[in-house]
Amino acid sequence: MNILILGSGGREHTFAYKIAQSDLCDQLFVAPGNAGTAAIATNVSVAVTDFAEIKALVRKENIEMLVVGPEDPLVQGISDYFQEDAELKDIVVIGPSKRGALLEGSKERAKEFMAIHHIPTAAYQSFTEESLVAGKAFIETLAPPYVLKADGLAAGKGVLILQDLEEAKTELENMLTNKKFGAASEKVVIEEFLDGIELSVFVLTDGKNYVTLPTAKDYKRIGEGDTGLNTGGMGAISPVPFADAAFMSKIEEQIIKPTVDGLAKENIDYKGFIFIGLIKVGNDPKVIEYNVRMGDPETEAVLPRVKNDLVSLFQHVGNQTLDQVKLEIDKRSATTVMTVSGGYPEAYEKGKEITGIESIEDSIVFHAGTKFEGDKVVTNGGRVIAITSLDDNFKKALQKSYQNIKKLHFDTMCYRKDIGFDLAP
Ligand code: AMP
Ligand code: GLY
Repeated sequence: MNILILGSGGREHTFAYKIAQSDLCDQLFVAPGNAGTAAIATNVSVAVTDFAEIKALVRKENIEMLVVGPEDPLVQGISDYFQEDAELKDIVVIGPSKRGALLEGSKERAKEFMAIHHIPTAAYQSFTEESLVAGKAFIETLAPPYVLKADGLAAGKGVLILQDLEEAKTELENMLTNKKFGAASEKVVIEEFLDGIELSVFVLTDGKNYVTLPTAKDYKRIGEGDTGLNTGGMGAISPVPFADAAFMSKIEEQIIKPTVDGLAKENIDYKGFIFIGLIKVGNDPKVIEYNVRMGDPETEAVLPRVKNDLVSLFQHVGNQTLDQVKLEIDKRSATTVMTVSGGYPEAYEKGKEITGIESIEDSIVFHAGTKFEGDKVVTNGGRVIAITSLDDNFKKALQKSYQNIKKLHFDTMCYRKDIGFDLAP
């Protein structure tokens, strides 16, 4: 069959890498894609939220499966758009309906969902401009640090964690009254601070059945030792060494099952990934957030460990037969290190020539913000190229990634040299 992937990051290159290996895939398209996807698929210059153009492409190229990478088209309802169109409704869409995508699109909705289905998470209340005074009074009842979350999508920047009481109250006002994050902060969730170590769990569901993919830990801050501004993610490790069988069984019983059952009970059409951000508090998992897609760069560490044919897995999602699937996971550890443009996550320059890609050995190169300029590959984003390696443990895998990164070059290239610093091997 012909397949279309939406997106242009390392996540989408990883999907393309796996899908291109499948005998079930005839022609593979990526919109808009990057220089990495261009080498194994056909890139098409269509924006991920331009549903009419996506429909035209699907019709023209006889696409039978649509794999949605980022959250924006899902929150805007691309899955419903396909379902409601007589010419598109038989196409398998990997990505939930708009109601499902609200688990990521609204923090308040995610908290309500967890409350209804008894899923462990931080205590919270939510506020609007009208209830600003009550919001400030609520902050006064909490102990620092204070956690303020813009309700809507804010490109990963909508969460503030503040030590100072007065600053927390001022920021609440900035968010609600002064629309610090635009419409996304017209509502703000204030929640209890959870102290612990983070990890992520990835679930692929057909709305009834599910499979749990390998765990991963992502390194979000730009600076070593987890300092500085938040980024989309500077590296990832899979599996997470501290997520042993006993802890995973708690996650499955207390979080994954009630989440999938909750979606079914609420009659939410959900065929796609659930990315559950967790924090281990003492010995117990609590949910920090839901995302309705795979993570980036987590995908680059997780999917290379999944031995199953990805297209076959997606077909089972489409037919609601995931109960017939047994996942086969590579026991080795995977590490991903992301190279970024100098200045990222703030302003940075694009168009720098990237050299050395072809000299990388024994690691997988996943392109993120890259494009072809003539026959040169140049930088085209903040996150540029991810290097994934597999080995018996994550330390050995990391060594491979770091050795190979030394062969890569572009002007202003940066990367974190301490991925995994907080984990025992
Ligand atoms: P989110 O966008 O909800 O994932 O939040 C971004 C980051 O803020 C998370 O990855 C955590 O590091 C941190 N965070 C969010 N909520 C909490 C919380 N309740 N307690 C502690 N840290 C949090
Ligand atoms: N790496 C975090 C995310 O994809 O949201």
